[in-house]
Amino acid sequence: MDYRSTVAEGPALSQVNADALLLVLTPDLAATGDAVLDKLVKDAISAEDFALKAGKALYIHRPAGVKAARLVLLGAADPKAKSYKSAVAKGLAQVKDLGAAHVAVAAAKGLTLSADHAKALVLGVLDATYVYRHTKPSAPKPGALKKVTVVSSQADAAAVKAGLQQGQAVAEGVALARELGNLPGNYCTPTHLGDEAKRLSRTFKHVKAEVLDRRAIEKLGMGSFLSVTNGSAQPPRFIILRYDGAAASQAPVVLVGKGITFDTGGISLKPGAGMDEMKFDMGGAASVLGTFRALAELKPKLNVIGLIPTCENMPSGTATKPGDVVTSMSGQTIEVLNTDAEGRLILCDALTYAERFKPAAVIDIATLTGACVIALGNIHSGLFSADDQLADALLAAGLQAQDTAWRMPIDDEYGEALKSNFADLGNVGGREGGAITAAVFLSKFTKAYRWAHLDIAGSAWKSGGAKGGTGRPVGLLTQFILNQAAAGKDAIAPLPKKADKAEGKAVAGKTARRPAAKKAAAKAAKA
Ligand code: BES
Ligand code: MN
Ligand code: ZN
Repeated sequence: MDYRSTVAEGPALSQVNADALLLVLTPDLAATGDAVLDKLVKDAISAEDFALKAGKALYIHRPAGVKAARLVLLGAADPKAKSYKSAVAKGLAQVKDLGAAHVAVAAAKGLTLSADHAKALVLGVLDATYVYRHTKPSAPKPGALKKVTVVSSQADAAAVKAGLQQGQAVAEGVALARELGNLPGNYCTPTHLGDEAKRLSRTFKHVKAEVLDRRAIEKLGMGSFLSVTNGSAQPPRFIILRYDGAAASQAPVVLVGKGITFDTGGISLKPGAGMDEMKFDMGGAASVLGTFRALAELKPKLNVIGLIPTCENMPSGTATKPGDVVTSMSGQTIEVLNTDAEGRLILCDALTYAERFKPAAVIDIATLTGACVIALGNIHSGLFSADDQLADALLAAGLQAQDTAWRMPIDDEYGEALKSNFADLGNVGGREGGAITAAVFLSKFTKAYRWAHLDIAGSAWKSGGAKGGTGRPVGLLTQFILNQAAAGKDAIAPLPKKADKAEGKAVAGKTARRPAAKKAAAKAAKA
């Protein structure tokens, strides 16, 4: 898609040269200063064909005095970017199956367009035009739409231009995450995700990728991660991405994505109905790859590391059994009470691995619990963090990118449910507060740095007729990183040294136990 911006105000609006003109109006901002357009709007309202309300749209073919052959009047609730995006989406739905190759989007006089408006528009266009076709040759051919022009006032032109550019980079990332999510489990294997990471590093010079195989993962002592792979014929991968945008001395932000390419539940087998949707259980991994795709183009001045533990969760004669005890890279032992709580088992070792980067902050992204879907539905991602500064920054980025999260509790008390008679930790609590006990489980591996967890089980894909990946939360993550890069000395910094010392004993204890973890992992691999 080709995105342009152009300046047109007042009487110039009806003369905008395009195949279709979309015009966004709000209850308080309904005039354009163009006599032709204003009369059309007034007549349409008095004929009760149109109203200045969210969701209202009126298509007019060959309106007299308007240069574009197609005009769509659109109602928006208010001038905010979110309402603007909904109105534009509605307008695109009206014209996308028509012959219009070039759509121009204008707004009422006084409706200030910010960079966030332009970004939102680009993501709206992606939503309207994305078609999955990789394994569906019969999918509808791409429509006629080739070019979208945002019409703004002179005052807003610079912001719109910048927003369009950022929006396109984010849209590339969202599209990659969506596509990876949509790929069936027999296409999107751990090996495929590794190949995607390598492809990113070949294509973009600021991105580097390293893909570890089973032997290398064993060497690291990731006994918890490896226990999830025991039943699968597909080899696991541990992917390490780096985006170097600042001096090597700058502490990086680390993103950790759950990459279960198919989750059957393992021996704790899931029911059959809807199990196909567990191909989306690599949504966290997809969002990390998508964010790197966006960063590669946006080039913010910040260092970012991406970690993706990826494997399948399958039942078989060699699969991990309920009651098995595994040794994590941290040295903590885990009783696998339910093999379907596998996400936390692969993430905990990646979170331990993250310590070596002395990160400013670590954020994990995971389709972790059905309980989170029950709590929040598919509107907000669940955000869990004991760090108010980090949590606030993530919530703000979500609002700005229209990819929102909602903060959930993470009190230690919930951890009572994770006690085990046979290991340091059990991998499940009860049904109650299931999204929170999962987060508390992860927190046992994140004491060395600032950390937040995003449970995207509800937001990473849609079910039903619109079944498909959403590309979330690429928008939130990318915005968070852009904001951190722009924050300079106010950016989130690593935990102060003093806190490190306070944790010193525990950390030393962990290190001392790592050789044991390695041995256990090697033994498990041989068995
Ligand atoms: N990938 C699932 C979580 C999930 C389930 C996401 C449904 C979206 C929709 C995860 O691995 C899982 O199976 N979690 C279990 C945890 C339970 C066994 C404690 C769950 O949520 O049921
Ligand atoms: Mn599971
Ligand atoms: Zn899962």
